[in-house]
Amino acid sequence: MGKYEIAWLPGDGIGQDVMEAARIVLDRVGLDADYIPGDIGWEWWCKEGEALPPRTVELMKNTDCALFGAITSKGKDKADKELAPELQGKGYSYRSPIVRMRQLLDLYICLRPCKAYPGNPLNYRDGIDLVVFRENTEGMYIGVEWPQVPEAMLAIKGAEKLPRDAAVSIRAITPGGSERIVRAAYEYARANKRKKVTVIHKANVLRQTCGVFMDAARKVAAEYPDVAFEDANIDAMGMWLLKNPLNYGVIVTTNLFSDIISDLCAQMVGGLGFGCSGNIGSNYAVFEPTHGSAPKYAGQHKVNPIATILAGKMMLDWLGEADKAARLQGAVAAVIAEGKVRTYDMGGTNTTLDVANAIAAKL
Ligand SMILES: NC(=O)c1ccc[n+]([C@@H]2O[C@H](COP(=O)([O-])OP(=O)(O)OC[C@H]3O[C@@H](n4cnc5c(N)ncnc54)[C@H](O)[C@@H]3O)[C@@H](O)[C@H]2O)c1
Repeated sequence: MGKYEIAWLPGDGIGQDVMEAARIVLDRVGLDADYIPGDIGWEWWCKEGEALPPRTVELMKNTDCALFGAITSKGKDKADKELAPELQGKGYSYRSPIVRMRQLLDLYICLRPCKAYPGNPLNYRDGIDLVVFRENTEGMYIGVEWPQVPEAMLAIKGAEKLPRDAAVSIRAITPGGSERIVRAAYEYARANKRKKVTVIHKANVLRQTCGVFMDAARKVAAEYPDVAFEDANIDAMGMWLLKNPLNYGVIVTTNLFSDIISDLCAQMVGGLGFGCSGNIGSNYAVFEPTHGSAPKYAGQHKVNPIATILAGKMMLDWLGEADKAARLQGAVAAVIAEGKVRTYDMGGTNTTLDVANAIAAKL
């Protein structure tokens, strides 16, 4: 493999701080790459009416993958007011750049590893080591909704009794979309010697949409007799995860359910300073910490860069750089275990760059 080309998307607020830290570590691990900066975030919404400008989408299409920091987003009223005066009233409407990049590049897997690194004082319980596979392109997040029931919908059998002033969102689940995310979870389980995949749903209530998902899940599971299949209702799963988190290794579910469950899992292993994710498609992937731009800490180099550094580790794995990924993970684990260099969230007083330099020094 020649030199990698990586789209470098720090975004807003602490996105800049944590990406600076990630770069120190990636340079030290010796990845042969050009990092090409791209524009994303609130600044570009305000200036251009687009938080993910077309040139950034082009950049992504012409690179191997992307590392992304965080963005700021605001409700409709604030977004409309902060748009450049010359663009106001011209039909611009704020759209989440994260949701858009997932849809534009068909990044259908959101992979979120949650591992309790020994020595992390924020661990809920030692030994937690699970991954959540989130379906990233359909479900409740397709963006088809109305502030009031559309007239035409009232003519549909079953919908005619809806109160007219009800807001309505559509949940769309396809057999193909379900099959490919469940298959990704099973492939991961097999490759990483995980014994079981847990599929989460609410099929007793959402009979049609969860029914399609579960039919696809059972069909895929039958192709992997070496990996056990287990299913659980989303509500019960919240309880079981808190009670017996060590019982789970690979979890897969639809978009909204896994959005919630993966935050719960991330909190069990240290919270926002540790949660990272990969948005992965067939040919492209975007890796990111799961936290936001934390404006109150922007530019202070105060926040924990470990989530972003672990997103970098995921990127190395995806690029096929397994040795560098393992070395990087070992360095992160060693710094956490030593407990000498810690940002405020872990009870320490060190800076973002202190942590990055300590990890780099282990490489
Ligand atoms: N993926 C993303 O880019 C993303 C995700 C969530 C929120 N947001 C946006 O970020 C902005 C701020 O949102 P928010 O305040 O609700 O969430 P946030 O994740 O930005 O921060 C919430 C709080 O968590 C803590 N925190 C976050 N990251 C940390 C880190 N790396 N180390 C230590 N502590 C950390 C800080 O105390 C921070 O104030 C909003 O505009 C929101 O829309 C973006």
